[in-house]
Amino acid sequence: MKVLVATTNPGKIREISDILSETGITLVTPNELGLALDVEETGATFVENAVSKAISWYRASSLPSLADDSGLSVDALQGRPGVLSARFAGPGAGDSANCELLLNLMEGQKDRTARFICVVALAISEATVITARGEYEGSILAQPQGGNGFGYDPVFFDPASGKTFAQLSGAQKNERSHRRLALMALRQKLVTQCLVRVP
Ligand code: IMP
Repeated sequence: MKVLVATTNPGKIREISDILSETGITLVTPNELGLALDVEETGATFVENAVSKAISWYRASSLPSLADDSGLSVDALQGRPGVLSARFAGPGAGDSANCELLLNLMEGQKDRTARFICVVALAISEATVITARGEYEGSILAQPQGGNGFGYDPVFFDPASGKTFAQLSGAQKNERSHRRLALMALRQKLVTQCLVRVP
């Protein structure tokens, strides 16, 4: 099966191709097809955004299309920043402004539990979209630590490694990431539905 991966982010493309490589899926990128599409993320949930992106790319390419939506959900903030993770501190806000706002809102909070969430959606037709979800739980520190990664990585403490995601290497983070968990779950669904096989 040929699948369009609805992102131009090289890191995401590598991770997706790594996880789906044994399934016989051939990934193509928007750049390879000369396609550009800006799908606004107006949904109230990660699922709505991922599904709407996947269907928009399916319409544009006539190929099965894989899209994702991800973000951080903080328990003490009732799931915020959630789908607004990229623009928490306002439209065009950068990673450090978003982290700063989060740390301000978390001041004095005892419950620091948070999770990264990723939903992937594969549109096989306009009517058939397979979704899968991955979550990775950790907690929000009081101060940023570490210089790797992006987004909320410097304030997200991973109990399994005893470090923030920004203190892990890219490979160490990807081993456990919410995106990886979502892609593994998608792969399992595709195998169960006999859409792909793994050796
Ligand atoms: P997107 O789904 O790739 O557009 O990500 C939305 C936003 O969620 C990003 O801009 C980050 O703020 C946040 N986010 C998603 N995944 C991660 C992650 O792995 N680390 C840190 N922040 C993330």
